[in-house]
Amino acid sequence: MVHVSQHPLVKHKLTLLRHKATEPKKFRELIREVAILLAYEATADLSLNELEVTTPMGTARGYSLKEKIGLVPILRAGLGMVDGIWEMMPGSEVWHIGLYRDEETLRPVFYYNKLPTAPTVQLCLVLDPMLATGGSAVAAVDMLKKWGARHIKFVGILAAPEGIARLTEAHPDVPIYVAAVDERLNEIGYIVPGLGDAGDRQFGTG
Ligand code: PRP
Ligand code: URA
Repeated sequence: MVHVSQHPLVKHKLTLLRHKATEPKKFRELIREVAILLAYEATADLSLNELEVTTPMGTARGYSLKEKIGLVPILRAGLGMVDGIWEMMPGSEVWHIGLYRDEETLRPVFYYNKLPTAPTVQLCLVLDPMLATGGSAVAAVDMLKKWGARHIKFVGILAAPEGIARLTEAHPDVPIYVAAVDERLNEIGYIVPGLGDAGDRQFGTG
């Protein structure tokens, strides 16, 4: 399932993100804000416990989240998506996966993994702004599944059709939430028209 946000705020903010004149400070703010809006959509089906809450005026029916959530940013660019979502879901755990894409082969290379020894949550949200060839997302989901995660969703910002096809084929049970699906990848694996290099634009490198 691919969910492309139709929310006007997402469309507005994505346009600012794409703009080549948007500088790193603003770019980081926008990544954070779009991530919150997409996570809101990706968590619309979370299950709840019913409870009773005492208000200053009486009692009311209330709810608490049933599932514990793991936020799994793919370093580096996924880091910028964590803080805002974490503020909305402060009970979440954050597990970092370090992956970079080899510039020649475009294949993902692992360099860091901070997963606990066994899964402690019911739902994992994999966070990475860019789903290009899909190699990094597939590798991260492979790793999470091997480790024992059952319920996984991918939350990105921009996807190429190639990345959607690859992730869907490898992991049809992992829904994909993005702000937009662009036209294509160029000859060096960048999303066109895209927004450029999401890691470099956040961290002021490159
Ligand atoms: C980018 C992006 C994804 C990956 C997407 O990371 O954040 O992780 O590329 O490409 P793919 O779908 O073809 O695998 P990059 O390798 O540039 O590393 P960085 O986040 O450290 O800059
Ligand atoms: N990674 C990025 O940061 N941008 C792209 O367009 C593709 C991969």
